[in-house]
Amino acid sequence: MKRPYITLKFAQTLDGRIAARDGSSKWISGPGSLKLTHKLRARNDAILIGVGTVLQDNPSLTVRLAKGKNPTRIIIDPKLRTPYTSRVIKNTKIAKTIIVTARKAPKVKVAQFRQKGVEFVFLPLSKRGYIDLEKIISILYKKGIKSMLVEGGGRIITSFMKKGLVDKLIAIISPKILGKGKDAVGDLGIGNIKWALKLRIKSAKHLGKDIVYTAFLDK
Ligand SMILES: NC(=O)c1ccc[n+]([C@@H]2O[C@H](COP(=O)([O-])OP(=O)(O)OC[C@H]3O[C@@H](n4cnc5c(N)ncnc54)[C@H](OP(=O)(O)O)[C@@H]3O)[C@@H](O)[C@H]2O)c1
Repeated sequence: MKRPYITLKFAQTLDGRIAARDGSSKWISGPGSLKLTHKLRARNDAILIGVGTVLQDNPSLTVRLAKGKNPTRIIIDPKLRTPYTSRVIKNTKIAKTIIVTARKAPKVKVAQFRQKGVEFVFLPLSKRGYIDLEKIISILYKKGIKSMLVEGGGRIITSFMKKGLVDKLIAIISPKILGKGKDAVGDLGIGNIKWALKLRIKSAKHLGKDIVYTAFLDK
């Protein structure tokens, strides 16, 4: 299957949480890591997030702290829960937004979003109500997206990992501990240590108080 090169990036506490129990995650990592995120955005044709992140963080997903173009913003949103007021719906002239949703998404909301310049991809849902990630990345590839940064949140990270769709992983580890919170990676169905996903570390560098791991996933 032809698909974009996928880089998965997230910032986690030392104990593997990407957000606290209340969903707050700003700012787990430091200012250097934020700049790195913007650099990574500028290097990719698209950024992808799930609707859970839109609802919790309301990100702009644009490049502001680095030089470079704004990538296409892809939102995985089967029930079209993205609010009309969200930042990803604004400024569709400076950064394109594509919402991936179900065929039965509310027509009125689709029409309103289209008036704002949002594009849609409609897909059937799995029994669980999820979007088929393999299908969507193949469609995105045909639309000219050759590289993509997946920025979360936890459910999206887990699904990409579970499907083996991650080429490069950038894990920013901050010197914080949250205890219970939102896991960076959820259940991958791995029951024994011998089946753990294996990484080839390219680099592990200090960035301010954080450590940035860059690694490739063994296929
Ligand atoms: N520290 C970091 O680097 C970082 C980065 C991003 C986000 N976050 C945090 O992560 C949290 C949000 O994560 P989240 O897990 O709640 O939401 P999410 O991963 O952003 O979005 C998940 C939603 O996407 C939809 N979806 C459709 N197909 C899917 C598929 N194949 N796999 C997974 N999801 C699919 C579902 O929407 P429906 O439920 O509508 O069906 C699902 O609930 C927030 O607290 C945010 O602050 C942290």
